[in-house]
Amino acid sequence: MTEKTGILFAGHAGAIASTVIAGANLLKQGFSPKYALLCESYITEDQKTIADKLELPQLEDLVFSGWDIYCHTIEESLRHHKVLSENDIVKVSVDILNQPALPVPCAVNKGEWGQEIEGIRSDIRNFRKKNQLNYVVVVNCISTQPTPKWSETYDSLDKFQESCYQGYDTVTPSMKYACAAVLESAGYINFTPNLSAVPAIVTLAKEKGVPLAGRDGKTGQTFLKTVLASALNMRQLYINGWYSTNILGNRDGEALSEEDAFQTKLMSKLACLDEIVGYKVEDHQVHIHHYRPRGDNKESWDNIDLQGFLGYSMQIKINGLYRDSILAAPLILDMVRLMTISIKIQEGGLTEHLAAFFKSPEMPEGTNVIHDFFAQYSLLQKWIYKHIKN
Ligand SMILES: NC(=O)c1ccc[n+]([C@@H]2O[C@H](COP(=O)([O-])OP(=O)(O)OC[C@H]3O[C@@H](n4cnc5c(N)ncnc54)[C@H](O)[C@@H]3O)[C@@H](O)[C@H]2O)c1
Repeated sequence: MTEKTGILFAGHAGAIASTVIAGANLLKQGFSPKYALLCESYITEDQKTIADKLELPQLEDLVFSGWDIYCHTIEESLRHHKVLSENDIVKVSVDILNQPALPVPCAVNKGEWGQEIEGIRSDIRNFRKKNQLNYVVVVNCISTQPTPKWSETYDSLDKFQESCYQGYDTVTPSMKYACAAVLESAGYINFTPNLSAVPAIVTLAKEKGVPLAGRDGKTGQTFLKTVLASALNMRQLYINGWYSTNILGNRDGEALSEEDAFQTKLMSKLACLDEIVGYKVEDHQVHIHHYRPRGDNKESWDNIDLQGFLGYSMQIKINGLYRDSILAAPLILDMVRLMTISIKIQEGGLTEHLAAFFKSPEMPEGTNVIHDFFAQYSLLQKWIYKHIKN
């Protein structure tokens, strides 16, 4: 018998959260093939999937809820974002379609951590109890936000708790969800580029044996960039410049038209290349444009200028026609299922084995950040083999 796992989305009415929730229901009903899911792949000759080998919760054992500033039902969110076709929306179970987002919480009293964190904690406890869950994971999928100036309160648990209690705005919404998750022994995945796992929260997570993973899901253009850069680096082809641009028309794209939020995303998208190749690629540029007609269907272009043997120059052009949330949703399902093991064995703090899923992987203290895709995949494979049960 597998164990019941609850997923609470911060950003429940968003494109990604609604796609994950409806998508899991379509898979459960057998309406869709299990493509793009690592945990559903076979790793050994006995025809058992990674999920079987690791005794992970099955897709049917996942239960969903979450918060949003828009209290839309899943059906309203699906119709707003237009990620899934009408044909698929009508197949989703009625109870899932009618599921509303919980309001962004605020507790009656301040408790030990201030009203907002106490409110989130209380929702996590109620969700766990009502659904008799073995594990809970909070997945942060809220809009991209400006990166706050570093505050010294992030470094000390006591000072951070005081800021939370007082409701200071150095404590961002992403930090509140992360902190509440840790306090309630729920795993935490930060799919956004927002700063959340500050040192105080990491300390708390280590103390309580709660896993954290982040940040900024690596889905389309950056995924391919890190795969290709890792391969070009193995062949020692020298990269002179890498020009990346993309257009997208969803709400995330709209949020990114705000300069401060764009800077948060840009830092995340720029970070990978130099670390992979081991030198500074002087002309690495990333551009993002909000272009409404495309909705959630992002189009990206990459031009890479490189030099090979004897310094002869070459170019590579890539044109990606992606679907943002369709790429993001399976990564979240995989990470949540894998994270149940870390919750069970109390693997507290930042988890390096999930680095392959993130644009800006946050690594445990004393470990170098790894962007090379082959190295990231190898970390994950080693971790999977270590935890195989049968
Ligand atoms: N789609 C991808 O491929 C991808 C890849 C990497 C990262 N991301 C990140 O994932 C996040 C979600 O993407 P999306 O396309 O679903 O965006 P979205 O704009 O559709 O959804 C975000 C949701 O968060 C809600 N929200 C904002 N502040 C909140 C708060 N304080 N509490 C609760 N809800 C709040 C918004 O109302 C909205 O419904 C973004 O930060 C995006 O940058 C997306």
